[in-house]
Amino acid sequence: MLIKSAEFVCSNTQVGKLPAPSIPEYAFIGRSNVGKSSLINALFSKKGLAKTSQKPGKTQLINHFIINDNWYLVDLPGYGFAQTSKKNRADWVKFIRQYLTRRENLQCIFVLIDSRLEPQKIDLEFCCWLGEQGLPFLLVFTKADKQSGVKSEQHVAKFRRALLTWFEEIPRHFITSAETKLGTDEVLAAINEINGNFELPVISE
Ligand code: GTP
Ligand code: MG
Repeated sequence: MLIKSAEFVCSNTQVGKLPAPSIPEYAFIGRSNVGKSSLINALFSKKGLAKTSQKPGKTQLINHFIINDNWYLVDLPGYGFAQTSKKNRADWVKFIRQYLTRRENLQCIFVLIDSRLEPQKIDLEFCCWLGEQGLPFLLVFTKADKQSGVKSEQHVAKFRRALLTWFEEIPRHFITSAETKLGTDEVLAAINEINGNFELPVISE
């Protein structure tokens, strides 16, 4: 997909205040520090579009970006940030769940997973919850530049095997790096394909 423009639109904490759901939308979600914001910047070759940080917990809001004036990409706060309070975590769960389950134009959720790690319970549980809700998702393994391709493939295979305990069919996956841009064309191609099938949602009152 040719990227002609990628602009920040707004940040929100309330699901009721999001932009009108008139164009297709995709969300990036995953553990704090997994590289969601960095991958967004790499996809559109625009450093600083999404704010990144070495410290987990940088992204705190639902951030909308509009791409080519015809689809939204959403950067979400990370889950599993140990230093945050229980109350914060509970709020996160509530507000992200509301967003994911109620957003009418949300076409697909990209679940980002650190390619350097053995399967993590929190990521597996999150995928299971998406499955239970019937929400479409794809897997994106991040930071592949930090290790050999073989190691990444091993971790991907283990994660997919772990998911087979709950799923009959495992969603497609991408191995990516925000540093080298590995996998970014494939992620954009997947979005392009889904965009082609988008129909305006029927909004219930
Ligand atoms: P939160 O907003 O806190 O949930 O984090 P995030 O998932 O948005 O992570 P972010 O993009 O801020 O990246 C976290 C750290 O990982 C930063 O120091 C990035 O530079 C680094 N990082 C992210 N992606 C990559 C990658 O593909 N390769 C390498 N080497 N470092 C990366
Ligand atoms: Mg972030």
